Amino acid sequence: MTDMLEKILSVLPENHPWRNTIAWLDTVDSTNNRAKLLASQGAPEGTVLIADRQTMGRGRLGRSFQSPAGAGVYLSLILRPNCPPEKLMHLTCAVAVAMCDAVEQAAGFRPGIKWTNDLVHQGRKLCGILTELSIDPATGLAASAVLGIGVNCCQEGFPPELSGIATSLSIETGREIRRADVAAAMIQALYAMNQHLMNRDSMMTRYRQDCVTIGREVSLVGADQTVRHAKALDVDDEGALVVAFPDGTSAHVTSGEVSVRGMYGYL
Ligand code: BTN
Repeated sequence: MTDMLEKILSVLPENHPWRNTIAWLDTVDSTNNRAKLLASQGAPEGTVLIADRQTMGRGRLGRSFQSPAGAGVYLSLILRPNCPPEKLMHLTCAVAVAMCDAVEQAAGFRPGIKWTNDLVHQGRKLCGILTELSIDPATGLAASAVLGIGVNCCQEGFPPELSGIATSLSIETGREIRRADVAAAMIQALYAMNQHLMNRDSMMTRYRQDCVTIGREVSLVGADQTVRHAKALDVDDEGALVVAFPDGTSAHVTSGEVSVRGMYGYL
């Protein structure tokens, strides 16, 4: 067993149901790619892959996710929801709240959520989430969900192009952060989230409390790069952002349709 896996298991409770399905990888293209492959081969719910480094870490909207060795926790979890995908519209929001719980547990402060699912602190991004569902064509049910999460832990600084928008747990706390503690807190928070996943109302109530986008003036950037200014009013129970436009109209926009930029920067 690798040193890192031993450390993670030493922090997890002895009887944690996912203890035996956690794997540590030194290098992988993307933990989400590997998890999707394992899910297609029948890997059980609770399979967790954590990598020291990713060579092709992926973010939302086709972006890449920088994943240098020793710096972050790059983790993917396989769930087996076996329910209609419409029942999982709030899944990414639930993961974001769980990751706020994990950061609070491991680093002692609670980050905010920039809609839909970036964890932020002091205006900079700490964590990104990429959720990928696989639908069984025979039943139309969600046969697997791969939840991919990258948390910046130990970076002491970022390259100039990222320094204004990215931060890490070490930078924010001013102390050394052990990735094993963060990974164990993430696994526990994800397990608890999965236990309550179908309780959508309470999950979304918690999401709204953590979401720092609500109440802000934002720019909505469409897939065709068109930009519309709006005020973010709320997040609905399916995770869509409720916005009001200057002409008095309002809309519910989804993360598939638009991304959000603050009027004066990343937030
Ligand atoms: C985003 O910020 O747009 C989402 C980033 C998600 C990154 C994580 S790291 C672990 C998992 N493997 C990947 O390739 N991506 C996710």
